[in-house]
Amino acid sequence: MLLNYDDVGPGPVVVLLHGFPFDHQMWNEQKTAIGALYRVITPDLRGHGSSMAPPERVYHVDTMADDVIETIEAIGIEGPVLLGGLSMGGYVALSIAVRFPTRIRGLLLFDTRAAADTPEARENRLKLAAQVEEAGNATPVVDGMLPRLFSPTTRRQQPILVETMAEHMMRTAPRSVAATLRGLAERPDRTDSLPGIAVPTLVVVGADDEITPPAEARAMAAAIPGARLVAIPGAGHMAPLEQPGPVNQAILAFLKEVG
Ligand code: MLT
Repeated sequence: MLLNYDDVGPGPVVVLLHGFPFDHQMWNEQKTAIGALYRVITPDLRGHGSSMAPPERVYHVDTMADDVIETIEAIGIEGPVLLGGLSMGGYVALSIAVRFPTRIRGLLLFDTRAAADTPEARENRLKLAAQVEEAGNATPVVDGMLPRLFSPTTRRQQPILVETMAEHMMRTAPRSVAATLRGLAERPDRTDSLPGIAVPTLVVVGADDEITPPAEARAMAAAIPGARLVAIPGAGHMAPLEQPGPVNQAILAFLKEVG
């Protein structure tokens, strides 16, 4: 399926994939900082932002990855790209790294993990999907995720950012939220594939990330040959929005090295 996307800047292509249940706008700070030197393409994954929400009951992570590849091809990008993703976007980026390794030449993983859901997490997601359908809006997801998304520093110093992101979550259609939750619950474990990733990799994690904690990011970086880990003080699960300055610095240093 072809996705809606934003496309700015000149130079080497950097594709950034958003988290759940947000859209491409979560990368606005990165677009501004990186878009002067790189062509930054930020798709809306299926069911999110302005992309279509197909009627399937489950939006699989691998299908989302297929959409991204199809969209990149439709744009006419032939060579391998620098690919990044946050959380769910990271699951999709890992799916591409493992299933389409020739399509990427660098990987950026933000606040994400390689492991599948635990049986308990899977069950909770399926329950949440049913609650969202019953409520007819994303409130159950917002109520469950919002208190864990941001660091205490962000909650204290940037209440407007927290409020704005809650509004963004509420904009995602309940049918898409539920289908995505079911897809996330079914996503495969990529842990065993990490040693086979052969492109330069940067792992970024908020030091206060409760959803995908620094210990998991550290283990993921250790399993990918040559990967570098950067922990961002004062940031939680939404590090690129919470602390754009240090995150952009880490991204730019990595991109410069990769070329
Ligand atoms: C995200 O930020 O994309 C979600 O937290 C992913 C997840 O729930 O696993």
